[in-house]
Amino acid sequence: MTFVDTADGPRGFDWDGRVLRILDQSALPAVERWVRVDGPAVLMEAIGALRVRGAPLLGVLAARLLAMESGRAEADWQALAAAVRAARPTAVNLMHAVDRMRAARAAGRELGAEADAVAAEDAAACARIAQEGAAALADGAAVLTVCHTGALATAGIGTALGAVRHAAASGKRVFVWVCETRPLLQGARLTGWELTRLGVPWALLADGAAASLLLGGRVTRVMVGADRIARNGDFANKTGTLAVAAAARLGGVPLDVLAPWTTVDPACPGGGAIPIEQRAAAEVQGFAGPQGAVRWAAAGGGAYNPAFDVTPGAWVARLVTDRGAWPGEALAGGAWVDQGGSTGTP
Ligand code: MRU
Repeated sequence: MTFVDTADGPRGFDWDGRVLRILDQSALPAVERWVRVDGPAVLMEAIGALRVRGAPLLGVLAARLLAMESGRAEADWQALAAAVRAARPTAVNLMHAVDRMRAARAAGRELGAEADAVAAEDAAACARIAQEGAAALADGAAVLTVCHTGALATAGIGTALGAVRHAAASGKRVFVWVCETRPLLQGARLTGWELTRLGVPWALLADGAAASLLLGGRVTRVMVGADRIARNGDFANKTGTLAVAAAARLGGVPLDVLAPWTTVDPACPGGGAIPIEQRAAAEVQGFAGPQGAVRWAAAGGGAYNPAFDVTPGAWVARLVTDRGAWPGEALAGGAWVDQGGSTGTP
């Protein structure tokens, strides 16, 4: 089945007004397993294990959990909010969502409605980003992407992948080169799964093959998401993005960053101030999924496993957000952040 550019299609969570269920992204594409979130422990474990991931989705789910737990005593609720806020250190959407829920509680607003608004605003942001992002894609475009930035990672149709989806739905022929995205293979497992469901043609490559593809003239545009964007346009995204960006620059291929405003950190001056999440060595030394676990690394060595790397804003061709799009040259001074305004409730 091919989905059009609407709310139909893959979804990473389901909220029926009473029960929250999440799609276990760590099990995809082998198994489509839905997990009922009947308390904070389930969601905290899911965030840590990357059963749910993608910066916008983390913010949406954090807001929902804090609304579901709003009956707790103040100190208990604040402790939970602090724990959720710290669950992943790089994706600033998580922090912005928690801060917004704290402000809503302090103001006596109903937290269920606030969480609804967080999700609805993210979906609307995705739609705007997708439309604006797709404008850069000509008929016959060959897009290279890293990690997974589709519907599963947001409350809407996605960011970079949303732009691809929008372009395809409006009749353009678009092909997607999918970096497998080691170590947890979000590209191979999730982007591939979603593109197949959307009916968009794609091919997989090992992350190390991106440079030859980019310098070989076979990619017209790189489109990626972000987990935090600093005032000077430097951005953190999944490990491997920096290498892709360097090769794209060498090969003269434009690189666009597509993200909701909740990914912008107005207080962060540059990439050096972005905290980078370090993850377990076991993720590099082997793989665990529904089919079982395997270790392929030899014993005796350690591992380097940063979840993200930082790409200079100077290398960005275009930053596309729901509050506007800016050419890379406009990012350095930070004036664009002030044009977009504060993060949270506009
Ligand atoms: O570790 P992950 O899988 O949460 O990393 C996600 C990314 O790097 C995405 O590109 C980013 O969060 C944007 S998702 C719309």
